[in-house]
Amino acid sequence: MTEKAELRLGDKTVELPIVVGTEGERALDISKLRGETGYITLDPGYANTGSCSSAITFIDGEKGILRYRGIPIEDLAGKSTFLEIAHLLIEGELPKKEEFHSFRESIRRHTMIHEDMKAFYGALPKDAHPMAACSAAVGALSTFYPDSLDPRDDRHIEISIHRMIAKLPTLAAFAYKHSIGQPFMYPRNSLSYPGSFLHMMFSNPCEDYEVDPVIEKAIDLLLILHADHEQNCSTSTVRLVGSSMVNLFATVSAGINALWGPLHGGANQAVIEMLAQIRDEGLTGRDFVERAKSKDDTSRLMGFGHRVYKNFDPRAKIIKKACFEVLNKMGVHSKLLEIAVELEEIALKDDYFIERNLYPNVDFYSGVIYNAIGTPSNMFTALFAMGRLPGWIAHWAELHRDETFKIGRPRQVYIGNTVRPYTPLEKR
Ligand code: SDX
Repeated sequence: MTEKAELRLGDKTVELPIVVGTEGERALDISKLRGETGYITLDPGYANTGSCSSAITFIDGEKGILRYRGIPIEDLAGKSTFLEIAHLLIEGELPKKEEFHSFRESIRRHTMIHEDMKAFYGALPKDAHPMAACSAAVGALSTFYPDSLDPRDDRHIEISIHRMIAKLPTLAAFAYKHSIGQPFMYPRNSLSYPGSFLHMMFSNPCEDYEVDPVIEKAIDLLLILHADHEQNCSTSTVRLVGSSMVNLFATVSAGINALWGPLHGGANQAVIEMLAQIRDEGLTGRDFVERAKSKDDTSRLMGFGHRVYKNFDPRAKIIKKACFEVLNKMGVHSKLLEIAVELEEIALKDDYFIERNLYPNVDFYSGVIYNAIGTPSNMFTALFAMGRLPGWIAHWAELHRDETFKIGRPRQVYIGNTVRPYTPLEKR
């Protein structure tokens, strides 16, 4: 028996079915509201609106819980690998040994990009932002693989997913190499997923390069922590664009662009720039926190706050711990980490942040690790995109596996001019 809510509009009362999720979340099903009442709902930023039902990731913002397919992030972060997590998110289960082997081997077979794509990078300015390069290159993949674009064909779906996961690190590393005028380094399929990426980023044809296992493990952990986060801005973009039945590459390209924004994934780059500004201007943590609180100053404490987490972002806790471990193992002292810790300590005791439930989010500490391993700050969000890719793919696949899905097309409340005549130019 479905629970129902009653909505009274004037002399009319309508019943709205109540949908209850597996973790007890409750939603009013308003899919028939307009038909029965002529009313729509209005919720700018969708803070109170569910766009879909999904079985991929569960977040409890009040309790600081994050689970991928039911498994707590704390368990996965310490025990799994990013490629395993990609399989878990996309297929719904951790792969058995032979499943993992064939998944990894298939991805390894697709890590190279078409040679003609190299010329594409040559057309970009040296200082092209890697997120611009990646979103353009990912969109262009559909022109090189016209044979696997149909989101209704299971074989097309499988091969385009494997191609997408395999090629994004290559496309991102090539954007970096282009920006520093170094030759592209090809993927090394004998290495791990993060290992091959580090090879493409930091090796060159003139010297031997050994992947540092400490850095390799840190990158794999960061990819895991960024892998999915339910209906965030970029994943919602992927679902909306994917609902038009366009191919996966065009859909992921849209997700990359949404993630680039400084309020979303671009925050990791903004955090490190904020920390460097405090260091270089000789500001104290308190100076900057006061700026971030002031209505007269547009500065925000980047890496703080979250639409859903009104308690600690569990990912931030794990990354902060990893920061200290990685920097200690590397024997690196980071002034930026010191400043970040000072800012956190001040903010967590400050009424402005306490009243607004503002805590460190996933972006607050991640840049400190990326910076310590020599990644330029404009590559941080590209690394976020590499991490989020399996999440985007999982939601795209879930959308297309739902026989009842429709193209996304929200309504609006019109507040413009009411009807009025055309005025010819000579009379204006
Ligand atoms: C990510 O959705 C996801 O899951 C995203 C993500 C993922 O994995 O996909 O978790 C990744 O995008 C993390 C967020 C990264 N962005 C930042 O760190 C940028 C700084 N943070 C904010 O801009 C903000 O907190 C948001 C965008 C993250 C959330 O914005 P909301 O929920 O719309 O909240 P809001 O902007 O309405 O802020 C509420 C109040 C406001 O003050 P008042 O108007 O009530 O006086 O809190 C203030 C804001 O001014 N506020 C901040 C602040 N964040 C919010 N004030 C200072 N510094 C901040 N960082």
